[in-house]
Amino acid sequence: MNPFVRITLLAATLLLAAGVSTGAAESLKEVFKDRFLVGTAVNRSMVTGTRFRRSPEQNAKDIALVKEQFNQISPENDLKWQLIHPREGAEGYDFVGADAFVNFGLSNNMYVVGHTLVWHSQTPNWVFAGTNPPPANIASNTNAPGTNRFGGGFGRYNGPRASRDELLQRMRDHIHTVVRRYKGKVKSWDVVNEAIADGAGTNLLRNSLWLEIIGPDFIAKAFQYAHEADPDAILRYNDYGLENPAKRKKLATLIKSLQAQNVPVHAIGSQAHVNVSMTFETMDQALTEMAVLGLPIHITELDVNSAASGQRGVGADISANAAATQGGLVSDADKKLAEAYAGIFRAFLKHRTAVQLVTFWGANDANSWRANGKPLLFDGDSKPKPAFDAVIAEAKKTPARGL
Ligand code: XIL
Repeated sequence: MNPFVRITLLAATLLLAAGVSTGAAESLKEVFKDRFLVGTAVNRSMVTGTRFRRSPEQNAKDIALVKEQFNQISPENDLKWQLIHPREGAEGYDFVGADAFVNFGLSNNMYVVGHTLVWHSQTPNWVFAGTNPPPANIASNTNAPGTNRFGGGFGRYNGPRASRDELLQRMRDHIHTVVRRYKGKVKSWDVVNEAIADGAGTNLLRNSLWLEIIGPDFIAKAFQYAHEADPDAILRYNDYGLENPAKRKKLATLIKSLQAQNVPVHAIGSQAHVNVSMTFETMDQALTEMAVLGLPIHITELDVNSAASGQRGVGADISANAAATQGGLVSDADKKLAEAYAGIFRAFLKHRTAVQLVTFWGANDANSWRANGKPLLFDGDSKPKPAFDAVIAEAKKTPARGL
């Protein structure tokens, strides 16, 4: 037998033995192994094997894809406050989904990331509610009913508020309980998510109940509590839109201020919910400027939106997400997606000393929160798309980290 055919057959057999079902000739985790970890967000169906919106066959395929291609996982929803701590108090935790997620990662030798401890969204109302509200006519108290609504879809709490001390106490209990439970297992945490204000305005921080009730030091406190709970965990500040220079400037201000206060922030999480107009140049510029802050960069939620209406911006606001995936795909969708991914990965590879981990926000298009925008490397059937080949080709052009 011709040696090439023999090697190909051998590789095919090994892949089959490993449970490969996607038809991809290679795996991202292997090809990138000397550069950075390659991960995916996983949902509860994948980690428990029980189905939700997918047939049992589809779910089995989704799971096979995750195991075949990725060596890192992030929980798409199961570690968010709303799901892991839906009710007040020590009895109010629900660890079913989170435990399944962590066990799935450990039993498959994956690097496990926790997402997320403090966020304005997907946080239940009780967190912000005052248990013993003082009279509303005392002007100086923070416990008066709020006037604003927050969160666009989640976190619309508008009643009498907790005091600063009460909210800090709840934050501390939550972070200590969750981080300690997975100490040594979850290696890296998104401690604070999306605290920076959008746009070029002068506000550094987004308006949220965390900010209004506690004040800007809610961020530092969250990092301190997480560090107390697991001194070895890599603690990330995570946000979206960091490809935008104005937002990046605010990121630099925030990170420098945290560093000046010796707050234990160990990595920058850049979500990278981008669209097909993203170029190598823009991503390169973003990474160059972020790397100057001296922290490792984790790309935490990568997807590349192909929907026509997703081309206006690179926001990840949950309320804006549905609108951003309307209007059909841009023409030549597969080709444009492959080009965009090639440029994006060329930039990641160029910055491979700083970029230590790249997580896709979903394993395939069917599971994506932006399913209409077909933003991932695998289609709804877990078949590799041209963008997959483009990403693999970029890896092969670039030497490994440190070489
Ligand atoms: C999204 C999930 O993908 C959806 O399933 C959920 O309905 C809303 O949240 N930024 C984040 C992620 O940090 O947690 C969000 O995930 C996407 C935007």
